[in-house]
Amino acid sequence: MVDALILGGAGFIGYHLARHLARLPGYRVTLVDNLSRGALDADLQELLDQHRAVGLTNADLLDPGSLDGLGGPYDEVYLLAGMVGVRNVAAQPDRVVYVNATIILNTLEWLRGAGCGRLLFASTSEVYAGSVEEGIAAVPTAEDAPATVLDTQAPRATYAITKMLGEAAVTHYAAAGGYEAVIARYHNVYGPRMGSDHVVPELLERVRRETNPFPVYGLEHTRAFCYVSDAVGATHALMTCPLERCEIVHVGNDEEEVQIRQLLSKLFDATGFHPAIEEHPAASGSVRRRCPDLGKLKALTGFRPTVDLKEGLGLTWEWYRRSMSVSR
Ligand SMILES: NC(=O)c1ccc[n+]([C@@H]2O[C@H](COP(=O)([O-])OP(=O)(O)OC[C@H]3O[C@@H](n4cnc5c(N)ncnc54)[C@H](O)[C@@H]3O)[C@@H](O)[C@H]2O)c1
Repeated sequence: MVDALILGGAGFIGYHLARHLARLPGYRVTLVDNLSRGALDADLQELLDQHRAVGLTNADLLDPGSLDGLGGPYDEVYLLAGMVGVRNVAAQPDRVVYVNATIILNTLEWLRGAGCGRLLFASTSEVYAGSVEEGIAAVPTAEDAPATVLDTQAPRATYAITKMLGEAAVTHYAAAGGYEAVIARYHNVYGPRMGSDHVVPELLERVRRETNPFPVYGLEHTRAFCYVSDAVGATHALMTCPLERCEIVHVGNDEEEVQIRQLLSKLFDATGFHPAIEEHPAASGSVRRRCPDLGKLKALTGFRPTVDLKEGLGLTWEWYRRSMSVSR
């Protein structure tokens, strides 16, 4: 029996990871979430109903005692919980600092006593975005690019700063506690049930409303989007691969770096909606180019992404169309 604990398990990546693990033989999966962003919706309820080995605990990780009743040691701990999203970061940067830093430190302090086999911490490509902006990191970007914040006082920087804290804290707590750890830096993961505060669902919502002309920001910016089943496959591979020390590993899809213009064209093909485009400049602080170098992920795990953008957008649109009950 493998005991897995997913902190932030009702969220986007957490739910898909739980579904993946539940289908593997011999897994018992405990999800912890305060349902502040993730929800006990029909999808999660179905997962809980269909898999007796998956359980949900509603707990607030800001409370230092929240994990005390959960036993342990767990074989696999996935620390995905946190405050994410561009709107949150712009509107409540103080809260982003408090929530993300507290969740990280409370979890690590709990692990001092509970221990675990391996901890995976969810970090982000944002930690090196400043190096790309300054031209000191190449794109596609590997893990040795310097983590850089260009302006510590910018609201947007709070998210990256808390992830930098997490990377350092996980590295040193794991070494001191004698358990294994890995840091997964996710790059533009998308798919069903990802909420609304991300580029793909925002565009899909405009399609659903049949917005015409169709406003779009930063048409020339490029991104490499990673379908969630690939991100989850990579996440589990990182949890189970041989590791000699705590590694930082980029997770994403390096096979299709597209301009937002090309993303739109694929999305319009997937949805059958072809409006006139109303072009706007990109949001300030948004990097022009982002694409991971996945050499390290591939060397450690042999993992390769399998879902291309056309297929992934189609699957995502199907889910949003169903959950938003629209006819298009
Ligand atoms: N989705 C991406 O493309 C992406 C990219 C880079 C990094 N990440 C990181 O991956 C992780 C998961 O991302 P996601 O897209 O699934 O986000 P998400 O918001 O869907 O999931 C995070 C979950 O944490 C929960 N949570 C927040 N505060 C909590 C608290 N105090 N106690 C308990 N639960 C709490 C939320 O309710 C939510 O369900 C995050 O740490 C995020 O920073 C994601």
